[in-house]
Order: sequence, then structure tokens, then C-alpha cells
Amino acid sequence: MVEGIEKPNLKTLISEERLQTRIAELAREIDRDYADAERLICIGVLKGSVFFLVDLLKKVQTPVAVDFFQTSSYGAGTEPGEVRIRKDIDMSIRGQHVLLIEDIVDTGYTLRTILDLLRFRGARSVKLCALLDKEARREVEVPIDYSGFSIEDRFVVGYGLDYDQLYRNLPFIGYLEP
Ligand code: PRP
Repeated sequence: MVEGIEKPNLKTLISEERLQTRIAELAREIDRDYADAERLICIGVLKGSVFFLVDLLKKVQTPVAVDFFQTSSYGAGTEPGEVRIRKDIDMSIRGQHVLLIEDIVDTGYTLRTILDLLRFRGARSVKLCALLDKEARREVEVPIDYSGFSIEDRFVVGYGLDYDQLYRNLPFIGYLEP
């Protein structure tokens, strides 16, 4: 829960049109960089990345396979920055080009953990595509190969991002004000 937000006031941060324009640009960059790849394994992190992943991959021409992780970074007995894998990917990624697709990089712990795991499992290459980069919150370094938008440290919702599990289905990125 966000402190002070009882009746949240929703404002637009990034419109649907700006999102879709930028996503089309990212898709073109990805196609250009993987022009010689026979297959690209695209991995989303549930649940937030789903809306972005679907729109992005509908615009990508490179042959892609899709899989998902689900993680949690809080709960009984977890240390700050300790990320748990709640659902692993089904595919073997050894020797494969992998593109990790995320809605937002915040502290960086989730992506750092997953990127390290994918490299440990012998991926041929691992890159990260993140729609939003909240750099002011970063605690561990995570290189973002394809970055949609840099944003300020605001509580953002929509287009996959939730507040108490709501707002994920907004077609734009908004923020909540008390
Ligand atoms: C969000 C987001 C990333 C992670 C980023 O997911 O989708 O996976 O947090 O945070 P970090 O950089 O501080 O690790 P969340 O755990 O909220 O789950 P959700 O996608 O199901 O909402």
C-alpha cells in the first residue's frame, strides 16, 4: 500500500500514443540487432511485463519463442534485495540468444538476479529490454540494452504496473497522487 493514498488521484505520465510509438522503435532496434539470429528466446517476468511484452513482440519480425519467470522480492524470511524465483522458465536456454523483457527496473535486484541466472545457465547472449527505468532508485547496477523511458521516482501504475493489484490494464502509464 502507498502511504497517504486513500483515494488515489490518477494522472497520465506517458500516453498510450507515446508508449506505442516508442515500442515500435524498440521493436525495430531489436530486429536490426538480431537480424542474423535464427531464434530469440524472449522471457517476461510476471506479472507486470505481460502488457509490454505482448505489444512489443507483435511488432518484432525476428522469430521468437516466449517464456516467463515469476519472482518475489519480499515475504517472511527474505532479506532486502533477496529475490526468489516462484516460477521458473520451461525452456532450456543453453546456447540461445535471450532477451529479458521487463516493465520497470527499480532497485535492480530482480533483473540482476535473473540476468545472472540466465548467464549461469549458458545462454549464448543475454540482453535486457525494459519499458521504464527508474534510475534514482537503483541499488545494484543493471545494464539496460533497450530502454523505453527514463522516469522520475514516482509511484507509477498502468500498462502492467499495479497498485494493490489494480490498474494493470490501463493502456497508458499513470501515477498516483494522494
Ligand atoms: C516489479 C517489476 C519488476 C520488479 C522491479 O515486479 O515488474 O519485476 O518489480 O523491481 P526491482 O528493480 O526493485 O527488483 P513486482 O515484484 O512488483 O511484481 P509484479 O510484476 O507481479 O507486479
